[in-house]
Amino acid sequence: MNHQIVVLAFIFSLLSLSLAQCTGALTNSSHQVSVSWMVVGENSVSFTFTAPANSSTYTSLAISDHAVLLNNIDVVYAGDNETTNFVEDRWIVNFMSLYDKQQDIEDTSTLLTDDDLLMVNFTRPIISTDEAQDTNLNACKYLIWAYGGTVESFKYPKFTFQNLPRAFGTFNGQICLQYCGVSPSPSMSLMSSSTPTVSPSSQTPSAATNNHPVIFIILFAIVLLSCTLHI
Ligand SMILES: *[C@@H]1O[C@H](CO)[C@@H](O)[C@H](O)[C@H]1NC(C)=O
Ligand SMILES: *[C@@H]1O[C@H](CO)[C@@H](O)[C@H](O)[C@H]1NC(C)=O
Ligand SMILES: *[C@@H]1O[C@H](CO)[C@@H](O)[C@H](O)[C@H]1NC(C)=O
Ligand SMILES: *[C@@H]1O[C@H](CO)[C@@H](O)[C@H](O)[C@H]1NC(C)=O
Repeated sequence: MNHQIVVLAFIFSLLSLSLAQCTGALTNSSHQVSVSWMVVGENSVSFTFTAPANSSTYTSLAISDHAVLLNNIDVVYAGDNETTNFVEDRWIVNFMSLYDKQQDIEDTSTLLTDDDLLMVNFTRPIISTDEAQDTNLNACKYLIWAYGGTVESFKYPKFTFQNLPRAFGTFNGQICLQYCGVSPSPSMSLMSSSTPTVSPSSQTPSAATNNHPVIFIILFAIVLLSCTLHI
């Protein structure tokens, strides 16, 4: 009986480790920037990005193949002056920030706090149909933050050389969603809690739908379980 409990505990820890790939968080506390994400559908990931801002500046979060700012970068810009806000899907090409014709972000919202931090929420596809202007998240990518550039108008914001960000940097870590095409299910909301305390009966079937590492780990655990019980 004790063996079974130990093995089950082991399976749970492996399961939550594997599922944890589909949610994540990175932070740079010295710059007061943070980002967290959660896969919320088969091809859908929600982001919460927080960075310093005020009623005349914007923040942005870029998704990149490289740890440094290069040309051709997929970026989301956001600003909020307490009357109006914007969250835009853009693309940096030749050091100009261009508005994507296809806006592949939804469920956008912003909140400018009294201590001059802007929280930005948006949901985007893991693999976008906008091949030319979006970076897919089907491999590990870097996340680059930038803030402090000014915006003259929050209604139709323009981004030029005059309003380059005051600070930018790369989060120390990557986002890796290649195994996270998970169908939305009730257990997804349980997964989002920071301490995964999910029962196996509710989690195993849905997570296994098309999450290959989970299937692998379950098989591994079954083998392990049968070995342990024979000892
Ligand atoms: C907003 O921040 C910018 C850059 O940090 C600063 O120059 C500007 O004075 C600030 N504006 C307000 C309204 O606080
Ligand atoms: C952003 O999403 C997080 C997590 O769902 C939520 O707690 C927060 O209130 C949202 N913020 C805004 C500005 O919508
Ligand atoms: C916010 O921006 C909009 C559009 O640029 C402008 O009309 C409005 O007056 C601004 N509000 C504040 C409080 O700055
Ligand atoms: C925070 O960002 C700065 C500037 O990009 C960098 O020098 C520093 O090492 C970062 N700190 C962490 C903990 O990532």
